[in-house]
Amino acid sequence: MATDDAQARPVGVFDSGVGGLAVLAELQRLLPAEDFVYYADSAHFPYGGKATDAVRARADAVTRELLARAAKLIVVACNTATSAAIAHLRAAFADVPFVGMEPALKPAAALTKSGRVGLLVTPGTAEGEKLAGLIDRHGAGVRVDVVAAAGLADAVEHGQLDGDARALVRRYVAPLRASGADVLALGCTHYVFLRRVIEEEAGPRITVIEPSEAVARQAKRLLEECGLLNPGADAGGVTYLTSGDAAAFAEQRARLRAAGAEIPGD
Ligand code: DGL
Repeated sequence: MATDDAQARPVGVFDSGVGGLAVLAELQRLLPAEDFVYYADSAHFPYGGKATDAVRARADAVTRELLARAAKLIVVACNTATSAAIAHLRAAFADVPFVGMEPALKPAAALTKSGRVGLLVTPGTAEGEKLAGLIDRHGAGVRVDVVAAAGLADAVEHGQLDGDARALVRRYVAPLRASGADVLALGCTHYVFLRRVIEEEAGPRITVIEPSEAVARQAKRLLEECGLLNPGADAGGVTYLTSGDAAAFAEQRARLRAAGAEIPGD
């Protein structure tokens, strides 16, 4: 099938930093023919401690950058930005399809046997109205322990995937172990890079889940619905952009790869 101009345009993906790279890896696995533009808003990291208005303004500015690169669909690969800005983005850019991220509370509620689940999120997501709405919708009959993990995304952003990061994880999951939670949903894309450490510290009774794969499937569905899926057979590529220092961002990617994370090549 011939690829039309709209289908040949890239998919835009953004986060405050490296967290969304885990989502990008899932997107590329599911959509190998697509080109991607990944924008790390590193100069404004972290989003998690900022006021909602400030995060919304950054999400708006980054969206404009991605649209300037002809993005045909935008994945907000950041729970904090989704919480603060997705409604605004959908209203302000009405002709652009957006996919957002939220903690996998619905699957967590379906999975728990103890009736108690933990949600590990940034302070911004913890305080947002969107999380309260999500808990109202999907948390019925389940006790949800929200843990605002201040500093944890910062550790990942700075290449800390064990050591001090493990000490933080231990502190944040200890109350969940004590409460009898048996499912822990990761509600920040940065935490995916700490998954092994989180699983080790949470112990065998707690199942850790995160939504990157579901988000990639939703992006594919939306591309299909909008007639924007690239039907080509050749493998697409990734263009990396950042509001911070490009060399430092390349180094962050190299460090994550060296630690075993799957990060699409440049
Ligand atoms: N990766 C972002 C998220 O999913 C948060 C990191 C930050 O605080 O900027 O929420």
